[in-house]
Amino acid sequence: PTKEPGPADFQLPEFKKSHKTEQLTTGWGRPLGDRANVQTVGPRGPVLLQDVAYIEDIARFDRERVPERVVHAKGGGAFGVFEATDDISDVCKAKVFKKGTQTRVAMRFSTVAGESGSADSNRDPRGFAIKMYTDEGIWDCVGNNTPIFFVRDPFLFQMFIHSQKRNPKTHLKDANMVWDFFGNNPQATHQFLILYSDRGIPDGFRHMHGYGSHTFKMVNDKNDFVWVKFHWRCDQKIKNLEPKTAKFLAGEQPDYALQDLFDSIARKDYPSWTLYIQTVTDAQAKNLPYNPFDLTKIFSQKEFPLRKVGKLTLNENPENYFTQIEQLAFSPANMPPGIEASPDKMLQGRLFSYTDTQRHRIGANFMLIPVNNPETNKNVKVCTYQRDGPMNTSHNYGGCPNYYRNEFHGPDVTSRQAHLEHAMYEVGMTDRYQSEDDDNYTQPRVFYTQVLDDQGRKNIINNMVEHLEQCTDKEVVKRAVAVLANVDDDFGRTLAQKLKIDPPKKVRLRK
Ligand code: HEM
Repeated sequence: PTKEPGPADFQLPEFKKSHKTEQLTTGWGRPLGDRANVQTVGPRGPVLLQDVAYIEDIARFDRERVPERVVHAKGGGAFGVFEATDDISDVCKAKVFKKGTQTRVAMRFSTVAGESGSADSNRDPRGFAIKMYTDEGIWDCVGNNTPIFFVRDPFLFQMFIHSQKRNPKTHLKDANMVWDFFGNNPQATHQFLILYSDRGIPDGFRHMHGYGSHTFKMVNDKNDFVWVKFHWRCDQKIKNLEPKTAKFLAGEQPDYALQDLFDSIARKDYPSWTLYIQTVTDAQAKNLPYNPFDLTKIFSQKEFPLRKVGKLTLNENPENYFTQIEQLAFSPANMPPGIEASPDKMLQGRLFSYTDTQRHRIGANFMLIPVNNPETNKNVKVCTYQRDGPMNTSHNYGGCPNYYRNEFHGPDVTSRQAHLEHAMYEVGMTDRYQSEDDDNYTQPRVFYTQVLDDQGRKNIINNMVEHLEQCTDKEVVKRAVAVLANVDDDFGRTLAQKLKIDPPKKVRLRK
């Protein structure tokens, strides 16, 4: 493909049309008489410390970057609206789902493993993060374009990410690391199959579905609950990139997906997704042949059909990337009354990690930044006993009491009943329960043998072979292929043939 200029390419000429040049100042507002020449002793002489305009400017520049996200560093985002189109009050009391309600939305799409300048067309899951400014505070649905994930225990997440990032010595991406992790953690099989299938490189961000991925809990106003999965079905055509095209774009147009999103919104071709839920009663969940809170598993849509909820449309580009997208901070812990966490161990791990990283990445008062502030919704008033901290630009609650409980009209609970979390009965032995062998192959087998067609199976094999050939340690390759042979014998044999290794043997898992 060749790149035609789109609206993003005309951003500066457009700015010029509507803006006049203004007097340049320092950050303190002092008008400047020269912004191109530092103060020196003589025309060729050394620079003076008294050039405070220069010193201020370079010191400010030195601090321009915040740390990039530890994962999902490269991404683009936009704003829009979510409209609840269908009544689901029988299962959920959250006001965001009251039929007819419109809620402002911020959204960010991303790749996972690459740095903030990396190519958009790399083979990688795509982040699909939605922030809704609801009347009951922020709801962040922080999912991916795949309904499942690589691991089911949060203790393994960091390990998985290390294997996808750079080799600690060479600082290069390393195929041995990727496939060694896989061969030793067969729970990643389902997600590896999806990743190396045609769905592994979506064409931009507009042509893919999104998923909440985890099982969540929904509670209605009678305090009854169901388990739920969120599906964001793409209203555009699903489109994926051929590996060859993706590689070409990685060199020629590394920001392909960002530009496609920006341009489509600027052209008023607004992308949209329709939200569906799958609900499962607690009794049904207990009868499933697998753990309903295992993030490597899906719920069958035949057994648990999709139910329509509403529509999300993106119709507004950011005015400024850094303040509105780089500083955007999502957390799966942000849920309004009516949506709650399930016992999914991965979700439980994530509940802690996001705001923890954001306090480091952006700062303790990151929620005061307008895009993160729940008060973006005028019906929300944040009332806490949290105070102070660096760069606190809020009113800091003025003279309101800063301790609880008090007799001086500080914020208090007005309705325990309406806002209390759903209570659950949980009992069990504390332990580190092994889940490594929790059926790693049944659903991947269905994906490989039934969901994919012949061409799809050929593509997955070729995509995997191409990457496995980059492993210099043949034991790593043998182990990975042996794991994949558990999905389907023929799959394993074909991979072994193409990679010129012995037919796969059973491997013993490290515990
Ligand atoms: C970003 C941790 C699993 C989707 C992040 C960030 C962290 C993180 C620390 C950076 C956040 C920031 O700097 O603002 C974890 C941990 C996980 C986990 C500890 C497992 C235990 C997942 C899963 C999904 C997911 C399973 C999808 C289903 C995302 C997305 C972002 C992200 C979409 C980017 C959000 C944005 O656009 O700002 N994750 N993650 N993560 N994660 Fe996870």
